[in-house]
Amino acid sequence: MYKAPRGTVDILPQDQLYWAHVTERAAATCSLYGYERIDTPVFEDYGLFARTDAQGTDLVEKEMYVFEDRSGQRLALRAEHTAPVCRAYLEHGMFNQPQPVRLYYVGSAFRYERPQAGRYRQHHQFGCEALGDASASLDVEVIEVALSFLASLGLQDLSVVLNSIGCRKCQPEYVEVLRSYYQPLASQVCDDCRVRMVKNPLRLLDCKEASCRVIVDEAPHISDHLCPDCEAHFEEVKAQLNALGVGYSLNHRLVRGLDYYTRTVFEIQPKREGGQSAIVGGGRYDGLIEAIGGKPTPGVGFAMGLERVILNLKEQERGVPTTTAPRVYLASLGQSARRSAVALGAELRAAGHSVVASTGEKSLKAQLRHANSLGVKYTVILGDDEVRDGRVVVKRMTDNTQSTVERDALREHLAE
Ligand code: HAM
Repeated sequence: MYKAPRGTVDILPQDQLYWAHVTERAAATCSLYGYERIDTPVFEDYGLFARTDAQGTDLVEKEMYVFEDRSGQRLALRAEHTAPVCRAYLEHGMFNQPQPVRLYYVGSAFRYERPQAGRYRQHHQFGCEALGDASASLDVEVIEVALSFLASLGLQDLSVVLNSIGCRKCQPEYVEVLRSYYQPLASQVCDDCRVRMVKNPLRLLDCKEASCRVIVDEAPHISDHLCPDCEAHFEEVKAQLNALGVGYSLNHRLVRGLDYYTRTVFEIQPKREGGQSAIVGGGRYDGLIEAIGGKPTPGVGFAMGLERVILNLKEQERGVPTTTAPRVYLASLGQSARRSAVALGAELRAAGHSVVASTGEKSLKAQLRHANSLGVKYTVILGDDEVRDGRVVVKRMTDNTQSTVERDALREHLAE
């Protein structure tokens, strides 16, 4: 028996209600803020994700699905949407439009991670990117969009965690300070951190190993090493969040797992203990567009895993609008009734009724059982006698009342 590949799941009909609800809310929220939808391909040139400065991140080194196509081109399944959206921004000359360009997406992403609750090898992200404008108000806007979406779903007990990791000017200076702090402690840190010291020192700060925790706690804070511009930007972000009444906590350990961030980084996390990690992750990436071949262009955005959003909706028992079950079940008995039912079904659907027709030669009892399980409002019963007399039997499932109706009057009867 084949099974869905490890780390992937089928989204079954009963879960589609949640998916339809969150994607509808995402689109509605984005339209409130003027973000327009973009869809990029599921695979991209490998180089887009593996830019030279992206080396050293787990995403590029350990988690990408990389393959060669039949022409020998090296491609990668989309591991995240930010780089593809920036690629599309450049490819379609969106820098010629009034800036910022505000875009959003809903689509799958692929990462070869160890599967667990809320962590999959194929997951789905809803995210926003605002490109071409460095204002602090956009950092605040994208946080607001994410919070407003989550609030529209009724999710509660979320906290915003915020940090600034500086820019290409001040970050390297801080990294040197961090390296010097770690150098004498090299023998005490975990193996991964020894590699990070060389390849990606900022990631030392979010090591989860118990042995590294104390060392991280005492590490110098990047906020004490920001250049005046980065400091002013961060102050403005905080002031505007305060003005909006958005609560947040500062965490000097928050550096995020992708290499392209500059200045503001943030996550939105469930408050409860032991929950899976961030629902939302984002920040500013003022160097990314340049790194993939464009002119220096700022950008800021977020993405959230919809599986995690839905997990939280279920945990918090937030309802979703229920499905509209088919309205009519069309039961038929006998060959001529079955033939007549085909035409009757088409007629009712043309009049806007959703109709599920029975199939095969099932007993009336079995057909009514099926109708019940579908939750229809009416079952229309058609036997050979009814066909001959131009009538049908209509059973109202809510109270089990039954009436005989002229076939010509059926549409009107069902519309009541
Ligand atoms: P990220 O933090 O890697 O950021 O992913 C964003 C969100 O996607 C996470 O907070 C989480 O909800 C979800 N997610 C990530 N990996 C998995 C997984 N394996 N299974 C389930 N959910 C997952 C980014 O991808 C950036 N592109 C975000 C961004 C946009 N920054 C600026 N703009």
